[in-house]
Amino acid sequence: MSELPYSSAYPSQLPIWQKLKDHQVKQSKMHLRDEFNKDSDRAKRFFLQSEHIYLDYSKNLITDETIKLLEELANQAGLPAAIQSMFAGEKINNSEERPALHVALRNQAGTPFMVDGEDVMPEVKAALNQMERFVWSIHSAQARGYTNKRFTDIVHLGIGGSYLGPKVVSAALKPYWKAGLNLHYVANIDGTHITEELKHLSPETTLFIIASKSFGTQETIMNARSAKDWFLRNGGNQDDIHRHFVAISSNEKKAVEFGIARENIFPMWDWVGGRYSLWSTIGLPIALTIGIENFKALLSGAHEMDEHFRTAPFTQNIPVILALLGVWYSNFFQADSHAILPYDHYLRALPAHIQQLDMESNGKSVTHSGDPVDWSTGPVIWGGAGANGQHAYHQLLHQGTHFLPADFIMPLRTHNHIGDHHALLLSNCLSQSQALMQGKTLEEAKAELTAQGKTPEQVEELAPHKVIPGNRPSNTILFEKSTPRTIGALVAMYEHKVFAQGVIWNVNSFDQWGVELGKELGQEIYDIITGDNTPNGQDSSTKGLIDLFKKINNR
Ligand code: F6P
Repeated sequence: MSELPYSSAYPSQLPIWQKLKDHQVKQSKMHLRDEFNKDSDRAKRFFLQSEHIYLDYSKNLITDETIKLLEELANQAGLPAAIQSMFAGEKINNSEERPALHVALRNQAGTPFMVDGEDVMPEVKAALNQMERFVWSIHSAQARGYTNKRFTDIVHLGIGGSYLGPKVVSAALKPYWKAGLNLHYVANIDGTHITEELKHLSPETTLFIIASKSFGTQETIMNARSAKDWFLRNGGNQDDIHRHFVAISSNEKKAVEFGIARENIFPMWDWVGGRYSLWSTIGLPIALTIGIENFKALLSGAHEMDEHFRTAPFTQNIPVILALLGVWYSNFFQADSHAILPYDHYLRALPAHIQQLDMESNGKSVTHSGDPVDWSTGPVIWGGAGANGQHAYHQLLHQGTHFLPADFIMPLRTHNHIGDHHALLLSNCLSQSQALMQGKTLEEAKAELTAQGKTPEQVEELAPHKVIPGNRPSNTILFEKSTPRTIGALVAMYEHKVFAQGVIWNVNSFDQWGVELGKELGQEIYDIITGDNTPNGQDSSTKGLIDLFKKINNR
Protein backbone atom coordinates (compact mmCIF):
# COMPACT_ATOMS: atom_id res chain seq x y z
CA MET A 1 0.00 0.00 0.00
CA SER A 2 1.43 3.37 -0.95
CA GLU A 3 1.34 6.53 1.07
CA LEU A 4 -1.47 8.92 0.21
CA PRO A 5 0.11 11.80 -1.73
CA TYR A 6 -1.97 14.50 -0.02
CA SER A 7 -2.71 14.85 3.65
CA SER A 8 -6.13 13.56 4.57
CA ALA A 9 -8.08 14.28 7.73
CA TYR A 10 -10.57 12.54 9.96
CA PRO A 11 -13.51 14.80 9.24
CA SER A 12 -15.26 14.26 12.56
CA GLN A 13 -12.12 15.44 14.35
CA LEU A 14 -11.86 18.68 12.41
CA PRO A 15 -12.87 21.82 14.31
CA ILE A 16 -15.23 22.73 11.49
CA TRP A 17 -17.21 19.48 11.99
CA GLN A 18 -18.52 20.60 15.37
CA LYS A 19 -19.29 24.04 13.97
CA LEU A 20 -21.35 22.42 11.23
CA LYS A 21 -23.17 20.30 13.83
CA ASP A 22 -24.08 23.42 15.80
CA HIS A 23 -25.06 25.19 12.62
CA GLN A 24 -27.32 22.28 11.63
CA VAL A 25 -29.26 22.63 14.90
CA LYS A 26 -29.99 26.22 13.91
CA GLN A 27 -30.72 25.37 10.29
CA SER A 28 -33.08 22.53 11.11
CA LYS A 29 -35.56 25.15 12.29
CA MET A 30 -35.64 26.93 8.94
CA HIS A 31 -38.31 26.32 6.33
CA LEU A 32 -37.34 26.83 2.73
CA ARG A 33 -40.69 28.38 1.96
CA ASP A 34 -39.93 31.20 4.45
CA GLU A 35 -36.43 31.66 3.07
CA PHE A 36 -37.81 32.16 -0.43
CA ASN A 37 -40.51 34.50 0.90
CA LYS A 38 -38.09 36.72 2.71
CA ASP A 39 -35.35 36.80 0.07
CA SER A 40 -36.34 37.38 -3.54
CA ASP A 41 -32.70 36.99 -4.60
CA ARG A 42 -32.28 33.52 -3.14
CA ALA A 43 -32.46 31.70 -6.48
CA LYS A 44 -29.86 34.06 -7.97
CA ARG A 45 -27.50 33.67 -5.05
CA PHE A 46 -27.55 29.89 -5.15
CA PHE A 47 -27.17 29.43 -8.87
CA LEU A 48 -24.07 28.31 -10.77
CA GLN A 49 -23.22 27.89 -14.40
CA SER A 50 -20.33 26.17 -16.13
CA GLU A 51 -19.76 25.90 -19.86
CA HIS A 52 -22.63 23.41 -20.26
CA ILE A 53 -24.37 22.94 -16.96
CA TYR A 54 -26.75 25.14 -14.97
CA LEU A 55 -27.18 24.33 -11.29
CA ASP A 56 -29.95 25.82 -9.20
CA TYR A 57 -29.21 24.77 -5.62
CA SER A 58 -31.40 27.33 -3.92
CA LYS A 59 -33.91 24.67 -2.80
CA ASN A 60 -31.45 23.31 -0.25
CA LEU A 61 -31.44 23.74 3.51
CA ILE A 62 -28.67 26.28 3.39
CA THR A 63 -27.81 29.89 3.98
CA ASP A 64 -24.72 31.83 2.95
CA GLU A 65 -23.20 30.81 6.25
CA THR A 66 -23.79 27.10 5.52
CA ILE A 67 -21.88 27.40 2.27
CA LYS A 68 -19.06 29.25 4.03
CA LEU A 69 -18.77 26.52 6.65
CA LEU A 70 -18.93 23.73 4.07
CA GLU A 71 -16.25 25.45 2.02
CA GLU A 72 -14.12 25.52 5.14
CA LEU A 73 -14.75 21.80 5.60
CA ALA A 74 -13.51 21.14 2.06
CA ASN A 75 -10.37 23.12 2.80
CA GLN A 76 -9.70 21.53 6.17
CA ALA A 77 -10.29 18.08 4.67
CA GLY A 78 -7.52 18.69 2.12
CA LEU A 79 -9.63 18.90 -1.03
CA PRO A 80 -7.45 21.50 -2.83
CA ALA A 81 -4.36 19.27 -2.53
CA ALA A 82 -6.33 16.14 -3.42
CA ILE A 83 -7.56 17.72 -6.66
CA GLN A 84 -4.01 18.70 -7.54
CA SER A 85 -2.81 15.17 -6.77
CA MET A 86 -5.41 13.62 -9.02
CA PHE A 87 -4.53 15.87 -11.97
CA ALA A 88 -0.83 15.34 -11.32
CA GLY A 89 -1.25 11.57 -11.76
CA GLU A 90 -0.22 10.82 -8.18
CA LYS A 91 -1.22 7.51 -6.60
CA ILE A 92 -4.43 8.62 -4.97
CA ASN A 93 -5.73 5.03 -5.15
CA ASN A 94 -3.30 4.05 -2.42
CA SER A 95 -4.64 0.55 -1.65
CA GLU A 96 -3.93 -0.47 -5.25
CA GLU A 97 -0.93 1.85 -5.60
CA ARG A 98 -2.34 3.53 -8.71
CA PRO A 99 -3.28 6.96 -9.93
CA ALA A 100 -6.87 7.60 -11.03
CA LEU A 101 -6.32 9.34 -14.31
CA HIS A 102 -9.60 9.25 -16.21
CA VAL A 103 -9.04 12.98 -16.74
CA ALA A 104 -6.07 12.12 -18.98
CA LEU A 105 -8.42 10.28 -21.34
CA ARG A 106 -10.23 13.50 -22.15
CA ASN A 107 -7.28 15.83 -21.86
CA GLN A 108 -7.50 18.31 -24.71
CA ALA A 109 -4.99 20.77 -23.30
CA GLY A 110 -1.96 19.14 -24.91
CA THR A 111 -0.34 18.86 -21.48
CA PRO A 112 1.49 15.68 -20.44
CA PHE A 113 0.02 13.37 -17.80
CA MET A 114 2.77 11.54 -15.98
CA VAL A 115 2.42 8.05 -14.50
CA ASP A 116 5.59 6.71 -12.85
CA GLY A 117 7.64 9.35 -14.66
CA GLU A 118 6.20 8.59 -18.11
CA ASP A 119 3.78 10.68 -20.11
CA VAL A 120 0.70 8.55 -20.86
CA MET A 121 -0.72 10.93 -23.45
CA PRO A 122 0.96 9.29 -26.48
CA GLU A 123 -0.62 5.93 -25.50
CA VAL A 124 -4.00 7.61 -24.96
CA LYS A 125 -3.82 9.24 -28.39
CA ALA A 126 -2.68 6.00 -30.03
CA ALA A 127 -5.67 4.16 -28.53
CA LEU A 128 -8.03 6.89 -29.75
CA ASN A 129 -6.48 6.60 -33.23
CA GLN A 130 -6.95 2.83 -33.13
CA MET A 131 -10.61 3.40 -32.25
CA GLU A 132 -10.93 5.94 -35.04
CA ARG A 133 -9.52 3.52 -37.64
CA PHE A 134 -11.78 0.75 -36.42
CA VAL A 135 -14.90 2.94 -36.40
CA TRP A 136 -14.06 4.08 -39.93
CA SER A 137 -13.58 0.50 -41.11
CA ILE A 138 -17.02 -0.47 -39.81
CA HIS A 139 -18.82 2.64 -41.05
CA SER A 140 -17.22 2.48 -44.48
CA ALA A 141 -17.85 -1.29 -44.63
CA GLN A 142 -14.18 -1.96 -45.23
CA ALA A 143 -14.52 -4.45 -42.40
CA ARG A 144 -17.25 -6.94 -43.15
CA GLY A 145 -18.59 -10.19 -41.81
CA TYR A 146 -17.52 -13.63 -43.00
CA THR A 147 -20.02 -13.67 -45.89
CA ASN A 148 -18.90 -10.21 -46.96
CA LYS A 149 -22.00 -8.49 -45.64
CA ARG A 150 -21.85 -5.17 -43.76
CA PHE A 151 -22.16 -5.29 -40.00
CA THR A 152 -25.63 -4.31 -38.84
CA ASP A 153 -25.44 -5.21 -35.13
CA ILE A 154 -22.93 -4.71 -32.38
CA VAL A 155 -23.20 -6.77 -29.20
CA HIS A 156 -21.21 -5.29 -26.34
CA LEU A 157 -20.37 -7.87 -23.65
CA GLY A 158 -19.26 -6.35 -20.36
CA ILE A 159 -20.47 -5.67 -16.84
CA GLY A 160 -20.16 -2.96 -14.17
CA GLY A 161 -18.06 -0.10 -15.45
CA SER A 162 -17.45 -1.95 -18.68
CA TYR A 163 -21.17 -1.70 -19.34
CA LEU A 164 -23.03 0.99 -17.41
CA GLY A 165 -21.02 4.00 -18.64
CA PRO A 166 -21.17 3.09 -22.35
CA LYS A 167 -24.83 2.17 -21.95
CA VAL A 168 -25.93 5.46 -20.41
CA VAL A 169 -23.98 7.56 -22.89
CA SER A 170 -24.98 5.65 -26.01
CA ALA A 171 -28.63 5.81 -24.92
CA ALA A 172 -28.36 9.50 -24.04
CA LEU A 173 -27.03 10.23 -27.52
CA LYS A 174 -29.45 8.10 -29.54
CA PRO A 175 -30.28 11.01 -31.89
CA TYR A 176 -26.65 10.90 -33.06
CA TRP A 177 -26.62 7.20 -33.97
CA LYS A 178 -25.42 6.34 -37.45
CA ALA A 179 -28.09 4.75 -39.60
CA GLY A 180 -27.83 1.03 -40.20
CA LEU A 181 -26.07 0.00 -36.98
CA ASN A 182 -27.85 -1.36 -33.93
CA LEU A 183 -26.24 -1.69 -30.53
CA HIS A 184 -27.07 -4.32 -27.91
CA TYR A 185 -25.65 -4.79 -24.44
CA VAL A 186 -25.31 -8.10 -22.62
CA ALA A 187 -24.10 -7.84 -19.04
CA ASN A 188 -25.93 -10.31 -16.86
CA ILE A 189 -24.61 -13.83 -16.42
CA ASP A 190 -28.23 -14.96 -16.60
CA GLY A 191 -28.34 -16.90 -19.87
CA THR A 192 -31.69 -15.31 -20.59
CA HIS A 193 -30.01 -11.99 -21.31
CA ILE A 194 -27.75 -13.24 -24.09
CA THR A 195 -30.42 -15.62 -25.43
CA GLU A 196 -32.92 -12.82 -25.82
CA GLU A 197 -30.41 -10.46 -27.43
CA LEU A 198 -29.11 -13.00 -29.93
CA LYS A 199 -32.53 -14.35 -30.88
CA HIS A 200 -33.05 -11.95 -33.74
CA LEU A 201 -29.45 -11.48 -34.86
CA SER A 202 -27.51 -13.04 -37.69
CA PRO A 203 -23.92 -14.17 -37.07
CA GLU A 204 -23.04 -12.95 -40.58
CA THR A 205 -23.67 -9.33 -39.65
CA THR A 206 -22.95 -9.25 -35.91
CA LEU A 207 -19.84 -7.84 -34.32
CA PHE A 208 -19.02 -8.71 -30.69
CA ILE A 209 -17.05 -6.46 -28.38
CA ILE A 210 -15.73 -8.21 -25.28
CA ALA A 211 -15.12 -5.42 -22.79
CA SER A 212 -13.30 -6.46 -19.68
CA LYS A 213 -10.40 -4.57 -18.22
CA SER A 214 -9.24 -7.70 -16.39
CA PHE A 215 -10.53 -10.19 -18.98
CA GLY A 216 -11.26 -12.28 -15.94
CA THR A 217 -14.74 -11.21 -14.92
CA GLN A 218 -16.83 -14.36 -14.72
CA GLU A 219 -20.02 -12.89 -16.20
CA THR A 220 -18.32 -11.34 -19.20
CA ILE A 221 -16.13 -14.31 -20.01
CA MET A 222 -19.02 -16.74 -19.79
CA ASN A 223 -21.13 -14.50 -22.05
CA ALA A 224 -18.20 -14.20 -24.46
CA ARG A 225 -17.87 -18.00 -24.60
CA SER A 226 -21.60 -18.38 -25.23
CA ALA A 227 -21.43 -15.73 -27.97
CA LYS A 228 -18.55 -17.61 -29.59
CA ASP A 229 -20.47 -20.92 -29.40
CA TRP A 230 -23.53 -19.26 -30.93
CA PHE A 231 -21.38 -17.83 -33.72
CA LEU A 232 -19.77 -21.20 -34.46
CA ARG A 233 -23.06 -23.11 -34.24
CA ASN A 234 -24.81 -20.78 -36.63
CA GLY A 235 -22.47 -20.71 -39.60
CA GLY A 236 -19.28 -18.98 -38.47
CA ASN A 237 -15.93 -20.77 -38.57
CA GLN A 238 -13.02 -20.67 -36.18
CA ASP A 239 -11.10 -18.70 -38.85
CA ASP A 240 -13.86 -16.06 -38.95
CA ILE A 241 -13.62 -15.26 -35.24
CA HIS A 242 -11.06 -12.52 -35.79
CA ARG A 243 -13.51 -10.64 -38.01
CA HIS A 244 -16.40 -10.83 -35.59
CA PHE A 245 -14.82 -10.56 -32.13
CA VAL A 246 -12.79 -7.69 -30.74
CA ALA A 247 -11.71 -7.10 -27.15
CA ILE A 248 -11.06 -4.16 -24.88
CA SER A 249 -8.73 -5.17 -22.09
CA SER A 250 -5.54 -4.46 -20.22
CA ASN A 251 -4.96 -8.23 -20.16
CA GLU A 252 -3.78 -8.85 -23.73
CA LYS A 253 -2.54 -12.34 -22.90
CA LYS A 254 -5.95 -13.61 -21.79
CA ALA A 255 -7.70 -11.94 -24.73
CA VAL A 256 -5.33 -13.66 -27.17
CA GLU A 257 -5.89 -16.99 -25.39
CA PHE A 258 -9.61 -16.48 -25.95
CA GLY A 259 -8.97 -16.26 -29.68
CA ILE A 260 -8.94 -12.52 -30.33
CA ALA A 261 -6.46 -11.32 -32.96
CA ARG A 262 -3.82 -9.10 -31.39
CA GLU A 263 -4.67 -6.20 -33.72
CA ASN A 264 -8.29 -6.40 -32.52
CA ILE A 265 -7.41 -5.80 -28.88
CA PHE A 266 -7.96 -2.26 -27.68
CA PRO A 267 -5.79 -1.32 -24.71
CA MET A 268 -6.93 -0.31 -21.24
CA TRP A 269 -4.79 0.83 -18.37
CA ASP A 270 -4.57 0.11 -14.67
CA TRP A 271 -4.79 3.81 -13.95
CA VAL A 272 -8.40 3.94 -15.21
CA GLY A 273 -11.02 2.61 -12.81
CA GLY A 274 -13.84 0.55 -14.37
CA ARG A 275 -16.56 3.00 -13.39
CA TYR A 276 -14.53 5.91 -14.79
CA SER A 277 -13.67 4.16 -18.05
CA LEU A 278 -16.29 5.14 -20.61
CA TRP A 279 -13.85 7.77 -21.91
CA SER A 280 -11.32 5.10 -22.80
CA THR A 281 -11.52 2.34 -25.39
CA ILE A 282 -14.39 0.99 -23.26
CA GLY A 283 -16.30 3.75 -25.05
CA LEU A 284 -15.89 1.91 -28.38
CA PRO A 285 -19.62 1.07 -28.67
CA ILE A 286 -20.37 4.76 -28.14
CA ALA A 287 -17.93 5.77 -30.88
CA LEU A 288 -19.32 3.11 -33.22
CA THR A 289 -22.86 4.36 -32.82
CA ILE A 290 -22.38 8.15 -32.70
CA GLY A 291 -19.18 8.41 -34.76
CA ILE A 292 -15.68 9.33 -33.71
CA GLU A 293 -16.16 13.09 -34.06
CA ASN A 294 -19.07 13.00 -31.66
CA PHE A 295 -17.07 10.75 -29.32
CA LYS A 296 -14.32 13.38 -29.32
CA ALA A 297 -16.94 16.05 -28.58
CA LEU A 298 -18.04 13.92 -25.61
CA LEU A 299 -14.44 13.95 -24.37
CA SER A 300 -14.29 17.73 -24.88
CA GLY A 301 -17.42 18.27 -22.81
CA ALA A 302 -15.91 16.18 -20.02
CA HIS A 303 -12.60 18.05 -20.32
CA GLU A 304 -14.42 21.37 -19.95
CA MET A 305 -15.94 20.06 -16.72
CA ASP A 306 -12.48 18.87 -15.61
CA GLU A 307 -11.11 22.36 -16.09
CA HIS A 308 -14.04 23.86 -14.22
CA PHE A 309 -13.50 21.42 -11.33
CA ARG A 310 -9.74 21.99 -11.30
CA THR A 311 -9.81 25.78 -11.42
CA ALA A 312 -13.11 27.24 -10.15
CA PRO A 313 -13.14 28.51 -6.56
CA PHE A 314 -15.08 26.08 -4.39
CA THR A 315 -18.08 28.39 -3.97
CA GLN A 316 -18.38 28.58 -7.78
CA ASN A 317 -17.50 24.96 -8.43
CA ILE A 318 -20.48 22.81 -9.44
CA PRO A 319 -19.11 19.35 -8.51
CA VAL A 320 -17.71 20.70 -5.23
CA ILE A 321 -20.98 22.37 -4.28
CA LEU A 322 -22.90 19.18 -5.09
CA ALA A 323 -20.42 17.17 -3.03
CA LEU A 324 -20.68 19.53 -0.06
CA LEU A 325 -24.47 19.50 -0.15
CA GLY A 326 -24.35 15.69 -0.14
CA VAL A 327 -22.03 15.72 2.87
CA TRP A 328 -24.27 18.26 4.59
CA TYR A 329 -27.25 15.91 4.31
CA SER A 330 -25.45 12.59 4.89
CA ASN A 331 -23.48 13.64 7.91
CA PHE A 332 -25.55 16.38 9.52
CA PHE A 333 -29.14 15.45 8.60
CA GLN A 334 -28.51 11.65 8.56
CA ALA A 335 -29.84 11.28 5.02
CA ASP A 336 -29.19 7.72 3.88
CA SER A 337 -29.96 8.08 0.23
CA HIS A 338 -29.85 10.40 -2.73
CA ALA A 339 -32.21 10.29 -5.70
CA ILE A 340 -31.17 10.82 -9.31
CA LEU A 341 -34.22 11.88 -11.30
CA PRO A 342 -33.55 12.53 -14.98
CA TYR A 343 -36.47 14.10 -16.81
CA ASP A 344 -35.35 12.80 -20.18
CA HIS A 345 -36.16 9.45 -21.72
CA TYR A 346 -32.70 9.31 -23.30
CA LEU A 347 -31.14 9.64 -19.84
CA ARG A 348 -33.19 6.90 -18.23
CA ALA A 349 -30.07 4.77 -17.63
CA LEU A 350 -28.33 7.57 -15.69
CA PRO A 351 -29.44 6.46 -12.19
CA ALA A 352 -27.89 3.01 -12.73
CA HIS A 353 -24.57 4.49 -13.85
CA ILE A 354 -24.42 7.00 -11.00
CA GLN A 355 -25.35 4.18 -8.65
CA GLN A 356 -22.21 2.24 -9.57
CA LEU A 357 -20.09 5.36 -9.78
CA ASP A 358 -21.10 6.58 -6.35
CA MET A 359 -21.79 3.39 -4.40
CA GLU A 360 -18.78 1.43 -5.63
CA SER A 361 -16.57 4.48 -5.07
CA ASN A 362 -17.74 5.70 -1.69
CA GLY A 363 -19.42 2.65 -0.17
CA LYS A 364 -16.48 2.27 2.25
CA SER A 365 -16.11 2.14 6.00
CA VAL A 366 -12.40 2.54 6.58
CA THR A 367 -10.19 5.55 5.95
CA HIS A 368 -7.27 5.64 3.53
CA SER A 369 -5.09 4.31 6.31
CA GLY A 370 -7.50 1.52 7.27
CA ASP A 371 -9.07 2.98 10.40
CA PRO A 372 -12.83 2.56 10.87
CA VAL A 373 -14.82 5.69 10.12
CA ASP A 374 -17.19 7.10 12.71
CA TRP A 375 -19.07 9.21 10.16
CA SER A 376 -21.35 8.02 7.41
CA THR A 377 -19.94 7.75 3.90
CA GLY A 378 -21.57 7.24 0.50
CA PRO A 379 -25.37 7.21 0.46
CA VAL A 380 -27.66 4.75 -1.30
CA ILE A 381 -28.18 6.07 -4.82
CA TRP A 382 -31.47 5.34 -6.46
CA GLY A 383 -33.80 6.92 -8.95
CA GLY A 384 -35.51 6.65 -12.28
CA ALA A 385 -36.91 8.63 -15.15
CA GLY A 386 -39.31 11.46 -14.52
CA ALA A 387 -42.23 11.88 -14.93
CA ASN A 388 -42.79 8.12 -14.45
CA GLY A 389 -41.46 8.26 -10.91
CA GLN A 390 -44.11 10.78 -9.94
CA HIS A 391 -46.68 8.02 -10.29
CA ALA A 392 -44.60 5.55 -8.33
CA TYR A 393 -42.26 6.69 -5.56
CA HIS A 394 -42.71 10.47 -5.36
CA GLN A 395 -45.54 10.01 -2.86
CA LEU A 396 -42.90 8.93 -0.35
CA LEU A 397 -40.68 11.87 -1.31
CA HIS A 398 -43.52 14.28 -0.52
CA GLN A 399 -45.12 12.75 2.55
CA GLY A 400 -42.99 9.82 3.73
CA THR A 401 -40.93 9.80 6.91
CA HIS A 402 -37.54 9.57 5.21
CA PHE A 403 -35.33 12.52 4.43
CA LEU A 404 -34.44 12.11 0.74
CA PRO A 405 -32.42 14.75 -1.10
CA ALA A 406 -32.79 14.57 -4.88
CA ASP A 407 -31.28 15.82 -8.13
CA PHE A 408 -33.71 16.82 -10.87
CA ILE A 409 -31.92 16.69 -14.22
CA MET A 410 -33.28 17.89 -17.53
CA PRO A 411 -32.30 19.25 -20.96
CA LEU A 412 -34.01 22.55 -21.77
CA ARG A 413 -34.45 21.67 -25.44
CA THR A 414 -35.59 18.37 -26.86
CA HIS A 415 -34.59 16.36 -29.92
CA ASN A 416 -38.20 15.35 -30.44
CA HIS A 417 -40.66 18.16 -30.95
CA ILE A 418 -44.10 16.66 -30.72
CA GLY A 419 -46.89 18.93 -29.61
CA ASP A 420 -46.14 20.47 -26.23
CA HIS A 421 -44.62 17.35 -24.64
CA HIS A 422 -41.40 19.06 -23.66
CA ALA A 423 -43.05 22.05 -21.99
CA LEU A 424 -45.24 19.68 -20.04
CA LEU A 425 -42.25 17.55 -19.06
CA LEU A 426 -40.42 20.63 -17.82
CA SER A 427 -43.50 21.76 -15.91
CA ASN A 428 -43.56 18.41 -14.16
CA CYS A 429 -39.88 18.57 -13.34
CA LEU A 430 -40.05 22.09 -11.90
CA SER A 431 -43.30 21.55 -10.06
CA GLN A 432 -41.91 18.51 -8.24
CA SER A 433 -38.98 20.39 -6.77
CA GLN A 434 -41.27 23.31 -5.98
CA ALA A 435 -43.76 21.03 -4.19
CA LEU A 436 -40.97 19.33 -2.25
CA MET A 437 -39.69 22.71 -1.18
CA GLN A 438 -42.89 24.56 -0.27
CA GLY A 439 -45.24 21.75 0.75
CA LYS A 440 -48.79 22.46 1.85
CA THR A 441 -49.71 23.68 5.33
CA LEU A 442 -52.68 22.53 7.40
CA GLU A 443 -54.32 25.91 6.91
CA GLU A 444 -53.89 25.68 3.16
CA ALA A 445 -55.27 22.15 3.12
CA LYS A 446 -58.29 23.26 5.16
CA ALA A 447 -58.93 26.29 2.95
CA GLU A 448 -58.72 24.10 -0.14
CA LEU A 449 -61.23 21.59 1.23
CA THR A 450 -63.60 24.31 2.36
CA ALA A 451 -63.45 25.85 -1.13
CA GLN A 452 -64.36 22.44 -2.51
CA GLY A 453 -67.59 22.55 -0.47
CA LYS A 454 -66.67 20.01 2.22
CA THR A 455 -68.48 20.20 5.57
CA PRO A 456 -66.45 21.43 8.58
CA GLU A 457 -66.30 17.82 9.87
CA GLN A 458 -64.98 16.55 6.57
CA VAL A 459 -62.43 19.34 6.47
CA GLU A 460 -61.15 18.38 9.93
CA GLU A 461 -60.96 14.72 8.98
CA LEU A 462 -59.33 15.09 5.60
CA ALA A 463 -56.96 18.03 6.13
CA PRO A 464 -54.16 16.12 7.94
CA HIS A 465 -53.94 13.69 5.01
CA LYS A 466 -53.42 16.55 2.61
CA VAL A 467 -50.64 18.27 4.53
CA ILE A 468 -47.29 18.11 2.76
CA PRO A 469 -44.42 19.12 5.03
CA GLY A 470 -42.19 20.58 2.31
CA ASN A 471 -38.70 21.76 3.25
CA ARG A 472 -37.30 18.77 1.34
CA PRO A 473 -34.13 19.64 -0.50
CA SER A 474 -33.28 19.20 -4.16
CA ASN A 475 -30.91 20.40 -6.85
CA THR A 476 -32.07 21.28 -10.33
CA ILE A 477 -29.44 20.49 -12.94
CA LEU A 478 -30.21 21.76 -16.41
CA PHE A 479 -28.39 21.89 -19.73
CA GLU A 480 -29.36 23.20 -23.10
CA LYS A 481 -29.84 19.95 -25.00
CA SER A 482 -28.50 16.39 -24.86
CA THR A 483 -25.42 16.65 -27.06
CA PRO A 484 -22.08 14.84 -26.84
CA ARG A 485 -20.58 17.86 -25.06
CA THR A 486 -23.33 18.35 -22.51
CA ILE A 487 -23.53 14.64 -21.72
CA GLY A 488 -19.74 14.54 -21.33
CA ALA A 489 -19.92 17.45 -18.91
CA LEU A 490 -22.83 15.97 -16.96
CA VAL A 491 -21.20 12.59 -16.37
CA ALA A 492 -17.82 14.17 -15.52
CA MET A 493 -19.61 16.46 -13.06
CA TYR A 494 -20.88 13.44 -11.12
CA GLU A 495 -17.45 11.78 -11.23
CA HIS A 496 -15.88 14.83 -9.60
CA LYS A 497 -18.69 15.16 -7.08
CA VAL A 498 -18.05 11.57 -5.97
CA PHE A 499 -14.30 12.12 -5.74
CA ALA A 500 -14.69 15.33 -3.72
CA GLN A 501 -16.96 13.52 -1.27
CA GLY A 502 -14.51 10.64 -1.00
CA VAL A 503 -11.77 13.12 -0.09
CA ILE A 504 -13.90 14.72 2.63
CA TRP A 505 -14.87 11.30 4.01
CA ASN A 506 -11.24 10.18 3.80
CA VAL A 507 -12.09 7.03 1.85
CA ASN A 508 -10.46 5.61 -1.25
CA SER A 509 -12.99 6.26 -4.05
CA PHE A 510 -11.02 4.17 -6.53
CA ASP A 511 -10.82 0.66 -5.09
CA GLN A 512 -13.66 -1.85 -4.61
CA TRP A 513 -12.46 -4.68 -2.35
CA GLY A 514 -15.98 -5.26 -1.08
CA VAL A 515 -17.08 -6.97 -4.27
CA GLU A 516 -14.30 -9.57 -4.12
CA LEU A 517 -15.65 -11.83 -1.37
CA GLY A 518 -18.89 -12.47 -3.26
CA LYS A 519 -16.88 -13.32 -6.38
CA GLU A 520 -14.69 -15.82 -4.48
CA LEU A 521 -17.62 -17.50 -2.75
CA GLY A 522 -19.54 -17.58 -6.04
CA GLN A 523 -16.71 -19.56 -7.62
CA GLU A 524 -16.66 -21.99 -4.67
CA ILE A 525 -20.41 -22.59 -4.96
CA TYR A 526 -20.16 -23.04 -8.71
CA ASP A 527 -17.41 -25.62 -8.22
CA ILE A 528 -19.62 -27.52 -5.78
CA ILE A 529 -22.56 -27.46 -8.20
CA THR A 530 -20.43 -28.66 -11.11
CA GLY A 531 -18.89 -31.37 -8.95
CA ASP A 532 -15.38 -29.94 -9.19
CA ASN A 533 -15.35 -29.50 -5.45
CA THR A 534 -17.03 -30.96 -2.40
CA PRO A 535 -18.94 -28.78 0.06
CA ASN A 536 -16.52 -27.45 2.58
CA GLY A 537 -17.46 -25.25 5.47
CA GLN A 538 -20.61 -23.80 3.90
CA ASP A 539 -23.17 -22.58 6.42
CA SER A 540 -26.35 -24.64 6.64
CA SER A 541 -28.42 -22.04 4.79
CA THR A 542 -26.11 -21.84 1.77
CA LYS A 543 -25.61 -25.60 1.75
CA GLY A 544 -29.37 -26.23 1.91
CA LEU A 545 -29.99 -23.83 -0.97
CA ILE A 546 -27.28 -25.47 -3.10
CA ASP A 547 -28.87 -28.88 -2.42
CA LEU A 548 -32.30 -27.57 -3.39
CA PHE A 549 -30.92 -26.22 -6.69
CA LYS A 550 -29.20 -29.52 -7.41
CA LYS A 551 -32.32 -31.52 -6.61
CA ILE A 552 -34.62 -29.41 -8.80
CA ASN A 553 -32.09 -29.51 -11.65
CA ASN A 554 -31.21 -33.21 -11.18
CA ARG A 555 -27.53 -32.45 -10.70
O1 F6P B 1 -17.83 -5.05 -9.84
C1 F6P B 1 -16.46 -5.07 -9.74
C2 F6P B 1 -15.78 -4.62 -10.99
O2 F6P B 1 -14.43 -4.84 -10.82
C3 F6P B 1 -16.06 -3.19 -11.38
O3 F6P B 1 -15.31 -2.27 -10.70
C4 F6P B 1 -15.77 -3.21 -12.84
O4 F6P B 1 -16.32 -2.09 -13.46
C5 F6P B 1 -16.45 -4.51 -13.22
O5 F6P B 1 -16.20 -5.37 -12.13
C6 F6P B 1 -15.99 -5.12 -14.51
O6 F6P B 1 -14.62 -5.42 -14.51
P1 F6P B 1 -13.85 -5.83 -15.82
O7 F6P B 1 -13.88 -4.67 -16.78
O8 F6P B 1 -12.45 -6.16 -15.38
O9 F6P B 1 -14.54 -7.02 -16.43
